[in-house]
Amino acid sequence: MQNKEWSDEHLKRMIIEQRKHMWRDDSVEMYSRWMGLKQGMTVVDVGCGLGYLGWTYWKYFGQGGKYFGLDKSSKLLEEASVISEEWSQGGIASFQPGDAYELPYPDNFADWTMCQTLLMHLEFPERALQEMIRVTKPGGLIMCNEPDNLSASTMVADFSENTVTDEYTLQHHRVMMIWVRGRKKLGHGDFSIAVRIPMMMRDLGLIEIDSRCNDTCNFVQPPYETPLQKYRIEMAKKHLEEGEDEEGEKRNRQEFKDYFLAGGGSLSSYYRYLKRAYALRDEYKKMHRESIENGTWFRSWGASSFFCIKGRLPTEGKQ
Ligand SMILES: C[S@@+](CC[C@H](N)C(=O)[O-])C[C@H]1O[C@@H](n2cnc3c(N)ncnc32)[C@H](O)[C@@H]1O
Repeated sequence: MQNKEWSDEHLKRMIIEQRKHMWRDDSVEMYSRWMGLKQGMTVVDVGCGLGYLGWTYWKYFGQGGKYFGLDKSSKLLEEASVISEEWSQGGIASFQPGDAYELPYPDNFADWTMCQTLLMHLEFPERALQEMIRVTKPGGLIMCNEPDNLSASTMVADFSENTVTDEYTLQHHRVMMIWVRGRKKLGHGDFSIAVRIPMMMRDLGLIEIDSRCNDTCNFVQPPYETPLQKYRIEMAKKHLEEGEDEEGEKRNRQEFKDYFLAGGGSLSSYYRYLKRAYALRDEYKKMHRESIENGTWFRSWGASSFFCIKGRLPTEGKQ
């Protein structure tokens, strides 16, 4: 079982940076209507991290509402609690350390139980979902925001000077499939879990299951007008200035190898892929530096393959 501490600097930075442009405000408004959110709801957020879902949806449930954020990282929760003083006016936000497999709430406690990028990291996501259902009232709502990263893995296209061949793109996708399988096999979670969640919800007795996809299309092109594009340029420059984090790089490479081999890949194909991938990376770095500096960088990451999946508990038949 993977034992990541999400308050570690590099992981915490990731959950802060990635969330700056994660869901658009107008989409959140639309999802709130779609899910039938109401002011005054009692809400549980499992694996809440810094409380992102709390402040994102507060406008739609927070007046007289109660938000309970749970996470296994006490350090993150300390920060989440401080941050929440700013966003939780009109209701109550509280945080509690705990385990997604054993939620510290009674049966039928919440009107709405949710999680985001939690199930993808768990060895037994069904067990966590079952716990979320247990603590939710009959007729209550479950929401899981989770990705399908495998589908997203072939979408990147760099139009500044694309040297990636079809063969490499296919090889990359194949490697990703093996990697995802190995990660799951080692008990570190399913990176593409989103596509399995509707079926998991159905098997656990939820009804009115429906799913929407994040509507953001990620691209940069001169003159980089939108806030998201400006942000991407800023991050790319920062990345180039800061250079490599050698420790992180080593860790990632080891993890990549472990997952690839556990997924059934051979050592020789791992080294073949790595050689090509690193050569491309160096080529891209040079190209990025130049095109970012002279303002000619074009890139598209395509859709994000990030889903908002909802289900409802039946009003009858729950103990
Ligand atoms: C990728 S972060 C997502 C945080 C937050 N939901 C967000 O979207 O910003 C995953 C979070 O799940 C928490 N987590 C992982 N396994 C857990 C478990 N078994 N029980 C409770 N929390 C867990 C981690 O500590 C981390 O804060």
